[in-house]
Amino acid sequence: MSNNNLIASADPIKFAYWVPNVSGGLVISKIEQRTRWDFEYNRKLAQIAEQSGFDYALTQTRFTAGYGADYQHESVAFSHALLAATERLHVIAAILPGPWHPAVLAKQIATIDHLTAGRIAVNIVSGWFRAEFTAIGEPWLEHDERYRRSEEFIRALRGIWTEDNFTFKGDFYRFHDYSLKPKPLQRPAPEIFQGGSSRAARDMASRVSDWYFTNGNTLAGIKAQIDDIRGKARANGHSVRIGVNAFIIARDSEDEAQAVLAEIIEKADPEAVKAFGHEVTQAGKASPEGEGNWAKSTFDDLIQYNDGFKTNLIGTPEQIAERIVALKSVGVDLVLSGFLHFQEEVEYFGRLVLPLVRALEARSPAPVSTL
Ligand SMILES: Cc1cc2nc3c(=O)[nH]c(=O)nc-3n(C[C@H](O)[C@H](O)[C@H](O)COP(=O)(O)O)c2cc1C
Repeated sequence: MSNNNLIASADPIKFAYWVPNVSGGLVISKIEQRTRWDFEYNRKLAQIAEQSGFDYALTQTRFTAGYGADYQHESVAFSHALLAATERLHVIAAILPGPWHPAVLAKQIATIDHLTAGRIAVNIVSGWFRAEFTAIGEPWLEHDERYRRSEEFIRALRGIWTEDNFTFKGDFYRFHDYSLKPKPLQRPAPEIFQGGSSRAARDMASRVSDWYFTNGNTLAGIKAQIDDIRGKARANGHSVRIGVNAFIIARDSEDEAQAVLAEIIEKADPEAVKAFGHEVTQAGKASPEGEGNWAKSTFDDLIQYNDGFKTNLIGTPEQIAERIVALKSVGVDLVLSGFLHFQEEVEYFGRLVLPLVRALEARSPAPVSTL
């Protein structure tokens, strides 16, 4: 590999799935979706996922929604329940600075970590849905201010988890000689993921996050982000791993998979897609540089909440496995997956796609170096 920013990890690529703790599934379409958002469905899904070789489940945080997705279970409580129902799966709880305070979250997660043998993680999301903040009476900060607050949130969280007599003087949070007891079980601390890909989001990842999650994208688009973030992280003496969203449609034939995609698009709910498209203009597009998540999304892209069609994990198990290994070769450490019918398709993925990925990984040449 000639580009020294391009670092393929020696570790097997990891897999996460989006927990459907929000109603309506992962596509804004009237196509039949056998996915449900209730706990019974999700408990079974988590058990299927861990048996199928998934490493992580990612819950979503949402207090209200005006574009579909009408019902939402709270992310921390739901994550804990999924951990209690499984044995190996790690569950990542989505957290919004603003509604959450780092002291409350640090305490909550430390306790859950002890209750679940060290399998909880957090995803710090900076927010894009202004109407949600208005509805719950939370002030809405400008784009880059949201990231300034998130970075302080992460620094405070890590400080509380790892230090005694923690003192912190930020613009948003302050701590005075605070010692959390007990500390979390996981050492040095539970993993901290972040969602968001604007300039401010990338810079935050290159300084403080353990993991950077981004929306779906082309291989070239993903590689450009990774090179940028890892270059900066190296200069900061920090290392960050990368997770990429993909809406996976794996079928026995390519035609079948493409037909499912065509039907999702054909049955899209135009009003709800437009409403969602309007709300997300507060994300990347509202940043000073006008880049980031959804900044360039078309109507068809927006049908999947996080641009998951763009990653193109749509086709036969062989095609998908090859594309996953290509993602790994540009530095991706984890694929975050969404599915139309979660229970059936997570099982199919584990049975038919994952073994092919592992076989291809075993054949790949050893990486030059890892970060
Ligand atoms: C994998 C992933 C998961 C996310 N989960 C949530 C969530 O549960 N709730 C939420 O309000 N925003 C969520 N977001 C959105 C982020 O909060 C952020 O607003 C968005 O990515 C735009 O960031 P940008 O402006 O930096 O590009 C998520 C983003 C990603 C990439």
